Amino acid sequence: MNFVQRYTRYLRPHAFRILGMFLSGLMFVLFSGVSIWMAADFIQALFTGKVLVPELPEGPVTIANVAEVLKHYSAQMVAAGSALETLQRAILFIVGAFFFKNIALYLQTILAASVEQRVAQQMRDGLYEKLMAQDLAFFHQRKTGDLVAAGVNDVLQLNAGLAEAFSKLLRDPLTIIMFLILLLSISWQMTLGVLVIAPIAGIVTGVAGSSLKRKSKRTQARLGVVSSRLNETLYGMRIVQAYGGQKHETRSFDEATEDHYQHAVKRERLRRLVPRLEEMVGVLVISVILLVAGGRVLSGQWLQPDDFVRFLVLLFGLLTPLVSLAEVQAKLKVAEGAAERVFDLMDEEHQIDEVAQPKPVTGFKKEIRLEKVSLQYGGERGTALHDLDLEIRPKERLVLVGRSGSGKSSLLNLLPRFYDPHSGRILMDGIDLRELAISDLRSLFGIVSQDVTLFHDTVRANIAYGRPEMSMDRIREVAKQARADEFIEELPEGYDTNLGNLGERLSGGQRQRLSIARALLLDPPILLLDEPTSALDSDVAEEIQKTLDEVGEGRTVITATHRLSAIRPDDRVVLLDEGRLLADGTHTDLYASSDLYRELLSRQVEA
Ligand SMILES: Nc1ncnc2c1ncn2[C@@H]1O[C@H](COP(=O)(O)OP(=O)(O)OP(=O)(O)O)[C@@H](O)[C@H]1O
Ligand SMILES: [Mg+2]
Repeated sequence: MNFVQRYTRYLRPHAFRILGMFLSGLMFVLFSGVSIWMAADFIQALFTGKVLVPELPEGPVTIANVAEVLKHYSAQMVAAGSALETLQRAILFIVGAFFFKNIALYLQTILAASVEQRVAQQMRDGLYEKLMAQDLAFFHQRKTGDLVAAGVNDVLQLNAGLAEAFSKLLRDPLTIIMFLILLLSISWQMTLGVLVIAPIAGIVTGVAGSSLKRKSKRTQARLGVVSSRLNETLYGMRIVQAYGGQKHETRSFDEATEDHYQHAVKRERLRRLVPRLEEMVGVLVISVILLVAGGRVLSGQWLQPDDFVRFLVLLFGLLTPLVSLAEVQAKLKVAEGAAERVFDLMDEEHQIDEVAQPKPVTGFKKEIRLEKVSLQYGGERGTALHDLDLEIRPKERLVLVGRSGSGKSSLLNLLPRFYDPHSGRILMDGIDLRELAISDLRSLFGIVSQDVTLFHDTVRANIAYGRPEMSMDRIREVAKQARADEFIEELPEGYDTNLGNLGERLSGGQRQRLSIARALLLDPPILLLDEPTSALDSDVAEEIQKTLDEVGEGRTVITATHRLSAIRPDDRVVLLDEGRLLADGTHTDLYASSDLYRELLSRQVEA
């Protein structure tokens, strides 16, 4: 259980509270012992009107005589002149014991809860920090849903499971030891009898318990099916409605819930049966012993009547911590699965890192040079770029074209170091990108892509994303350049309009204009445009293209595009095919020399 060790590292700063948990656990055990013990005195006082104080046994206290010693003191405390007063005292002690027992348990549980919540918070923060430091590649390989589940559910499950296990471990063994000692002291013969018969009885409840576990697991899986159906169809509602899938989806959802119902009911039947079984088994154990040893109990040879009451209550009191300790194992198993997912994510390495002494970047002056650059994404997908050589000069307008999957986006991703090439190198003004300060490097690029990410924040914060210190004048300026100023002013609160509930209501073109403004904020010398207009209708696309042409003046603009109509005759066109550079020249050159280029063009015209 390696993860428990790792979890305890999170606990270290909370040592004080954990000590508190231990002490309150101890207090709980003591007072629950007292409350049980006093119950017998109370019953005696109630029925006989007086409590006999037995002699204090001679010699040191041992397991054999501890019951006698306790009886002496508890009786002494309760015994009083009149019957009524004895009863009152007994009641007072019992109420007092219950009071402190509950206080202790409350203390322990709130301490446990505060530690649990704090550790959960620390784990979430740690995980988030790790995720923020991850490479983009990491997120491309994983489902966002899994990451969210790890940060929310797994952390919760891990902590709930472990916190519960820990508080049980701080309480239950103490209870078990103390109660066993008392039982042995009251009657070791009876206790031995119980210890012999109980395991046999335990098998019955054990079998029921493990069957319950299996049933729970199956039910959980069915609930998973229900929730993923729900998720899938709600997310895909447009498609469901467009293709009239409602009836079909409703039917298959009903089937999933019916399946879950069947399993849940089976589980519930068993779940409600287990405590009933446990109680019956307990009674049977006692009954068997009484049947066998009835004569000796009756004759008072083994037990006095008040001892018998104590014995029974202690025995049942033993049952709860025993059962809950047995559950600890299961709790840990659940926590283990969650822990694996959380800790694996935390341990995930990342590749794209800054060197120890990164070189600062001041601008883009001479050239970006790709030398024999190859890029492989993880997995079997093969190579996205092969031995690419390319030189990009300042102020150039470079258009990347090629069939889908030819590597255009991959090439763009290499420049701001979202990925590193697996072989070859990329130099900027003669320096390998890997030697540059990453944030410097990335601030050279303004990036606009096909899908626009808008955050639940104001227009202003969305444009100045990550730069809250940016002046309003600058924000307005870039918005004007992106021709977004006009529609922003028309929003209910202008630049302070929150896009949270509005983002969906902006048109595709408006969203794209916001992302252009964002890209221009730092006045980057290079613009990377990955299909900036392909999600838009063609007339909107043309307008956006016009804006992009305007803001591209005086900058290096590298565009990956399918929309060949936007290419100007003197643009430099780089034609990629299956990750290789097929042709490089002006539109006019390529039109004359490349069959593939002409084919791509003619396909466009048809479409
Ligand atoms: N994150 C990724 N993980 C694994 N493989 C990827 C990843 N991104 C792209 N690929 C693969 O790399 C190759 C090049 O993809 P890339 O996205 O660069 O092509 P593209 O020219 O931009 O295509 P499109 O025109 O469709 O945008 C493709 O075979 C693609 O399947
Ligand atoms: Mg692409």
